[in-house]
Amino acid sequence: MAPVEAHGLLFSLVLSSAAWFMHEHSTMSIHPVSQKMEPFIRLANISRTYAMGATRVAALRQVSLTIDEGEFVAIVGRSGSGKSTLLHLLAALDQPTEGQLQVGTWTLGTLHPRQQARFRREMVGMIFQQFNLIPSMTALENVALPLVLAGTASDIRKTQAIDSLTRVGLRERMDHRPTELSGGEQQRVAIARALVSDPPLLLADEPTGNLDSTTGSQIIRLLDSIHRNQGRTVIVVTHHPEEVAAFADRILELHDGTFVDSSR
Ligand SMILES: Nc1ncnc2c1ncn2[C@@H]1O[C@H](COP(=O)(O)OP(=O)(O)OP(=O)(O)O)[C@@H](O)[C@H]1O
Ligand SMILES: [Mg+2]
Repeated sequence: MAPVEAHGLLFSLVLSSAAWFMHEHSTMSIHPVSQKMEPFIRLANISRTYAMGATRVAALRQVSLTIDEGEFVAIVGRSGSGKSTLLHLLAALDQPTEGQLQVGTWTLGTLHPRQQARFRREMVGMIFQQFNLIPSMTALENVALPLVLAGTASDIRKTQAIDSLTRVGLRERMDHRPTELSGGEQQRVAIARALVSDPPLLLADEPTGNLDSTTGSQIIRLLDSIHRNQGRTVIVVTHHPEEVAAFADRILELHDGTFVDSSR
């Protein structure tokens, strides 16, 4: 058994023993014991330093943070403050130089490349400023791509990709290629692709950065509805706190690699 799976198993065993204990001893107290849920995401003293020849760039410095399952968190901060670095660590696209990083039952930072790929496939949907769609593929083919990589059968792929495009309101555009779609539509295709394998965590790096403000606010509303209706944990990086203010449970500000006011 891989160390991470063993850790996951141990974690579930501890949880189920705790649940059993509380069940057996529930008559000891008239009031039910309030069970504190583990946070979904936990960063403990995370640093990420890039070595650039003789100099070192500290992109993140001793960052600690917890995020609960189902939270909508916005991260703001000036250019170069470490926002993308943080999202890349959460997506297991990069590893911290120091500190511990837990997402669900996964301990990141110590994973082998194959485990990282599995983590990304099962846990994370990622949305980028540049949409990152493949120009030669239709919307349907772009959305189905993660399922191709996961080895899903083609008929199931098609059903799930259509379902995902329907969720972002683009079923009728499924045969369009990216150049035959507006910017907002391209980003909705990218969101459908991020959702297609039903990951619990959605990470968006400046998803509105290439869109006008009206289209951008439609995208934020779409992310908010995915968060509310489908119970996803959503983390959005933006340069515009005002566009997420009405939706985010929390807005965290990064400054020079640390959170300005990290209350948790
Ligand atoms: N691969 C890399 N090698 C060296 N330095 C890097 C690398 N990636 C990022 N950096 C540096 O780390 C710091 C944080 O970069 P990051 O991309 O996280 O910033 P950001 O907050 O996302 O900025 P922006 O708003 O411009 O996207 C910057 O100073 C950047 O120059
Ligand atoms: Mg960035």
